[in-house]
Amino acid sequence: MTKLSQMYDASAAGYVLGHGKEELERLTQQGEFFRHFTESVFHNAGLRPGMRVLDIGCGAGDVSLIAAGVVGAEGQVVGLDRAPDALQAARNKVAAAGWSNVTFVEGEIHEVEHDRFDAVVGRFILLHMRDQAKTLTRLKQALKPGGVMAFIEMDLTTASVYPPMALFDQALGWIVECYRKDGVDVDVGSKLFSLMSAAQLNPLVTASTRVSAGETTDQACDYLAETLRSLMPRIEQLSVADPNQIDLATLAQRLKEQARLDNSCFFYPRMVGAWGALSNMQ
Ligand SMILES: C[S@@+](CC[C@H](N)C(=O)[O-])C[C@H]1O[C@@H](n2cnc3c(N)ncnc32)[C@H](O)[C@@H]1O
Repeated sequence: MTKLSQMYDASAAGYVLGHGKEELERLTQQGEFFRHFTESVFHNAGLRPGMRVLDIGCGAGDVSLIAAGVVGAEGQVVGLDRAPDALQAARNKVAAAGWSNVTFVEGEIHEVEHDRFDAVVGRFILLHMRDQAKTLTRLKQALKPGGVMAFIEMDLTTASVYPPMALFDQALGWIVECYRKDGVDVDVGSKLFSLMSAAQLNPLVTASTRVSAGETTDQACDYLAETLRSLMPRIEQLSVADPNQIDLATLAQRLKEQARLDNSCFFYPRMVGAWGALSNMQ
């Protein structure tokens, strides 16, 4: 399926979020937040039992597991990622869940070659692609005629809190600036329709957000602080902010205290799901 470059691409070491233990845990937590939305996008996209699915940028395997739940035991899921640590976590999860038809491959997305999948899916991956249009065109080659693509991406800058909170704005601002300086497209969600239309995938689109308030307030504060934790090495390298100013050790607690005082309601970034099929002529 891919040129299985067992050589670990040095550029993977520069992946903005890294793959430390905390980042893998953060991915799992994030996966739980967005599991239902992801599942509904896959159902809307027409994934069904027996299909063979490629999950690009599978990370710790949460999307692959959702796809496995949809295609069932008679289907097959292949997760592709460049990061061996993430793939090991994914393999452990799949073994624990008891799926034998979910496998993982180390490789680069741009190396995906002709291989006839019924569906190519990906979540929070196109934002990391420098040329998203080219990526989609290339991924089309992995599909069977009539095959479907489905993506879930976010619009990071739409995250907000009411009442407004200076500390929240500052923390989100550091995340956005770090991503942007690293070349990450922070608002690719709203571009999915346009990108997939250009790739002649006849897309349909849906969107949703998640809210934390009252009892779930802490989840939003932890998510924000943990995202910053994963980005800290790049924040320092790219001179986004002084680590003393961020004060990661106390950040989540300070957010929680302010949120309690304000009765805050947190709105996560808008999630966009888009899916589209290759016409049988392609
Ligand atoms: C934000 S994570 C998303 C993981 C997963 N899709 C999820 O939603 O939980 C992005 C993943 O894409 C992988 N990745 C980024 N660029 C890649 C590339 N060019 N080829 C293969 N994997 C890549 C990273 O290693 C990382 O695991």
